[in-house]
Amino acid sequence: MASLQERVVLVTGGSTGIGRAVVHRLAADGARVVACARGRDRLSEAVSGVAGATAIAADVSSPADRVALVDRVVAEHGRLDAVVLNAAIGYAGLVEETPQDAVETMIATNLTGVVDLARLALPHLLAAAAERGRADILVTASSAALAQVPPLTIYSATKAGAHGFVKGLRREVTSRGVRVHSITPGPVSTEWLVRGRGAAPVSDDDAEGRLSPGIRPERVAEQVARSLSSYWSRTVAVPRYMGLARLGEVPPVDRLLDMVLSRQAQRIQRITDRMVADRGG
Ligand SMILES: NC(=O)c1ccc[n+]([C@@H]2O[C@H](COP(=O)([O-])OP(=O)(O)OC[C@H]3O[C@@H](n4cnc5c(N)ncnc54)[C@H](OP(=O)(O)O)[C@@H]3O)[C@@H](O)[C@H]2O)c1
Repeated sequence: MASLQERVVLVTGGSTGIGRAVVHRLAADGARVVACARGRDRLSEAVSGVAGATAIAADVSSPADRVALVDRVVAEHGRLDAVVLNAAIGYAGLVEETPQDAVETMIATNLTGVVDLARLALPHLLAAAAERGRADILVTASSAALAQVPPLTIYSATKAGAHGFVKGLRREVTSRGVRVHSITPGPVSTEWLVRGRGAAPVSDDDAEGRLSPGIRPERVAEQVARSLSSYWSRTVAVPRYMGLARLGEVPPVDRLLDMVLSRQAQRIQRITDRMVADRGG
């Protein structure tokens, strides 16, 4: 396992949930971590008192912000060793009920933001790999990239795109020392459900009782840290059994899921709406 000591790592979506846990974990392991998010207050709180962590406010769905973000990390730290492309938005809604701006935001944040930030970071990562033997790109995808369940169809499509991008990019850069990882978590207890509906908590206190059900974000952060230290590029489900989501691709299972889920789609949407409403979204 390679050490994270002194490696310069950019983490997008680092102010809450999985991203914040990743920032704390990598900083504890000795990395110089730059966290990014749009909301400045939560972002400052996330890095406050964390040795080795700094913050840059940026919107990864904005082309200008993406360029400025990578330039600033390199200007301030002199290099870039790894990027954790974690920022994403999930609007939970059936396709015909999803507002157009939610469609545009999900694609711009979850897919264009990931692909273009990787593109902008690559010259610096290839230089780091040539000089120091390795560099890493890690994408927080989702089990929704592997098996699609309503009402997360559009979100799933963006995550499947990002997951596919990881697999393709590996075939471009592995022999040049850049590892490319995809983490596919199942449900994680974070603010994503209410944030997707534009009702993000303004503080940790405000988030009390408003988190989605799932495992603790620290479990995902553990796998991120292990990936950035691993000899190989990794595709990791968290928890591991969520890897069974891949079975959804097997033709008879795929057909069975089509039949069962399409009958239940509206019911699942109503349950999801209640979950969002119960959390103030
Ligand atoms: N929670 C789950 O069940 C689950 C499961 C599988 C995968 N994931 C994935 O895990 C990742 C982290 O999500 P989370 O669950 O930790 O949700 P979260 O608590 O809502 O965190 C999302 C983070 O992304 C930031 N963000 C959102 N849009 C952004 C933008 N345009 N530019 C920059 N930052 C932006 C948010 O801050 P601002 O809003 O202030 O920008 C926040 O820091 C996402 O990729 C998500 O799809 C989550």
